[in-house]
Amino acid sequence: MRTRRVEVLREHATLVALHTLTFPGDEQPEWNPDGVAWITYDGADPVAFLYAEPMLDESWYFSRVGVMPAARGQRLQRKLMRLMQLRLADKVLVSTTYRNPASANNFVREQWMTYLPAAPWGSPDTIYWRLDPC
Ligand SMILES: CC(C)(COP(=O)(O)OP(=O)(O)OC[C@H]1O[C@@H](n2cnc3c(N)ncnc32)[C@H](O)[C@@H]1OP(=O)(O)O)[C@@H](O)C(=O)NCCC(=O)NCCS
Repeated sequence: MRTRRVEVLREHATLVALHTLTFPGDEQPEWNPDGVAWITYDGADPVAFLYAEPMLDESWYFSRVGVMPAARGQRLQRKLMRLMQLRLADKVLVSTTYRNPASANNFVREQWMTYLPAAPWGSPDTIYWRLDPC
């Protein structure tokens, strides 16, 4: 497995395909060209991705991470999160999980904190996550 950072616009088609396969039925994110993305390859095959985007208040939103079913169980979510956390080490990072213990446990392992935003935007079972710069 090999993971590399990619330009959102240049790898748009691959990111869209990975999103469709790992979030079946979910809307695509807006794929902000100023966002950051990584793709993990098994040989030539893309098997996982992470995408994060800047928000208006200078924080960054960790928007999506997806691992193809056949590649799951190898801690790829955490590997991708660590690359993002290194790249955005001086930024406040926020994210959400929804009825997803496997993903939420990876946030816990990466030492994110839960919080309640002043204006929560998700459904009632949404968990809000935050990672502040060291
Ligand atoms: C959530 C997701 C990214 C985690 O992928 P991952 O990094 O491969 O997962 P992990 O290696 O952390 O394994 C997750 C759990 O599944 C278990 N697992 C082991 N083999 C597995 C397999 N073949 N398939 C699925 N899960 C497996 C792991 O043991 C682990 O359990 P634990 O947390 O109790 O230790 C992945 O399941 C996914 O893409 N889901 C769909 C999209 C999604 O929900 N994204 C996150 C939105 S917040």
